[in-house]
Amino acid sequence: MILPFFSSSIMKRAVEKGIVEYEIVDFRDYSSGSYNKVDDLPYGGGAGMVLMPEPLSKAIEDRKSPSSRVIFPSPGGRLFNQEMAQELSREDDLLFICGHYEGLDRRIIDEYVDDEISIGDYVLTSGETASIVIIDALFRLIDGVISKDSLEDESFNSSLLEYDQYTRPERYCNSSVPSVLLSGNHALICSWRDDNRIAKTMHSRPDMLSEASLSLRMRRKLIKIIDEIGIEDL
Ligand code: ADE
Repeated sequence: MILPFFSSSIMKRAVEKGIVEYEIVDFRDYSSGSYNKVDDLPYGGGAGMVLMPEPLSKAIEDRKSPSSRVIFPSPGGRLFNQEMAQELSREDDLLFICGHYEGLDRRIIDEYVDDEISIGDYVLTSGETASIVIIDALFRLIDGVISKDSLEDESFNSSLLEYDQYTRPERYCNSSVPSVLLSGNHALICSWRDDNRIAKTMHSRPDMLSEASLSLRMRRKLIKIIDEIGIEDL
């Protein structure tokens, strides 16, 4: 599951350029016994299996470096966001523990885990998919992975969603590109984009606006939108 992610697209390039290094560890290699058993029944009963502490701890001890920050993706963790992606992108070495089944023995979390992170209020079958989401969000923020321009106007910067984009053709499905984007007037285009970001955020993520840093002009725009919607519909 993880190999194709590291072998495609922008991540592939980052690996080829030597900006990102990765290693995938199968902790089954650290189990003892003839069946390479890594899970067992939960104490106290209940459905599912729990990953046994010994193979995991052997794998972590073997692969962890003094600078490793150990991440355990889990629905019980802190909710992941762009700020956490920024923070993790500054780390030298991240070690992700991918849980399966009913989870890990609590003692592994207490002993090794620095951050338990949830990517959303839903349950996935494995920690691999959640790890890929977290790694995808953070690696693109590392210097040299993508251009600084591409990161500038992105959603969540200044707590606003990104503005709408258009490309050729100018007319498509009975709808035209907003004329201001064809005007060549940079100041007008910037104002349109600011207004568009505010309108989109207001529509889809009004909860973000309390954190947004808005210019006077943007605040006026917001008030105008609120007037148009009517305060009772907020
Ligand atoms: N593992 C299973 N579900 C998850 C979630 N929502 N976030 C992080 N890890 C998970």
